[in-house]
Amino acid sequence: MKNNLSNIKKAINYLNNNECIGIPTETVYGLAANAYSDKATLKIFNLKKRPKKNPLIVHYYSLDDLKKDCLIDFNFLKLYKKFCPGPISFILKLKRNSYISKNVTNNNKMIAVRFPSHKLTRNLLKVLKYPLAAPSANLSKQISPVSKSDVVEEFGKKIKFVLDGGQSKVGVESTIVNLIGKPKILRLGGIERKSIEKFFINKNKTKYKKKKIVVPGQGKVHYSPGIPIRLNVKYPKNNEAYILIKERKFSEDNFYYLSKKKNLKEAAKNLYKTLRIIKKNKFKSIAVEKIPNLGLGETINDRLIRASKKLCKI
Ligand code: TXA
Ligand code: MG
Repeated sequence: MKNNLSNIKKAINYLNNNECIGIPTETVYGLAANAYSDKATLKIFNLKKRPKKNPLIVHYYSLDDLKKDCLIDFNFLKLYKKFCPGPISFILKLKRNSYISKNVTNNNKMIAVRFPSHKLTRNLLKVLKYPLAAPSANLSKQISPVSKSDVVEEFGKKIKFVLDGGQSKVGVESTIVNLIGKPKILRLGGIERKSIEKFFINKNKTKYKKKKIVVPGQGKVHYSPGIPIRLNVKYPKNNEAYILIKERKFSEDNFYYLSKKKNLKEAAKNLYKTLRIIKKNKFKSIAVEKIPNLGLGETINDRLIRASKKLCKI
């Protein structure tokens, strides 16, 4: 506890000095900076090697804080009451007099926001005088980090501090809902699609469109471990890492379980961690057994499909 307090103090110091730091969230770790500062937010893009046109998600402590920058409506409040703080992000309209740096939104009038539930980060947000812009703390297109050591692996000494909050409990990024116009899910994530769709009277209105890329950062190649991935595989090759979600009677050195009981929440939590371990163990390819396309299984499949695309320029 004492340790946490002194680490939060360190984090505040770096952030107040326009530095970027790693922060834990329940989804994945973020590379955070003062969302009101042009100087600090620019550093995020440089560190991540992220195109400037790809906007950032801003993290808030409370509804009152958010209202200073964004316009909200009935649909937002419904989802906020049910899911926040938690693994959901909203696209909202930016207020004209908001202090949000133009770097965050690529100078647009729409902004992605969320209220992370991780305790340490909530404690941090509570005392800061500004919200935090934070994309996932990985180099562009790489696997998102779910622990402090993953963040250090991505950036080494290029970032000065990572607040250690243990392993992320959800393990995949937030679900993004566009609330401008008809509510629509733009990115599958830590809250399953159906539980969000339930909230709108006409369910067809939140159609999740698979093919159309509406989120700038959701290109085809993403979350990539940098080696080929084959999906829905029953029989892996000998030299392939094999990702499973249900325990087998026999075991092999190349077996990697996301879950032993087909628990999709547990599987989501272990997804990025497992991809990282497989990469470290120098496998040249990965095979994945069929994962049910239900609940968080949809999110897992979305990420695996993106990770399985051949590396190409997008
Ligand atoms: O769980 C999460 O959402 C994590 C943690 C750290 O909060 N953050 C995260 O950020 O995944 P990032 O930058 O890796 O992914 C955010 C996605 C990007 O694909 C970006 O293009 C999209 O959100 N996005 C951000 N602002 C947007 C906007 N105004 N309109 C549409 N898409 C937006
Ligand atoms: Mg990301």
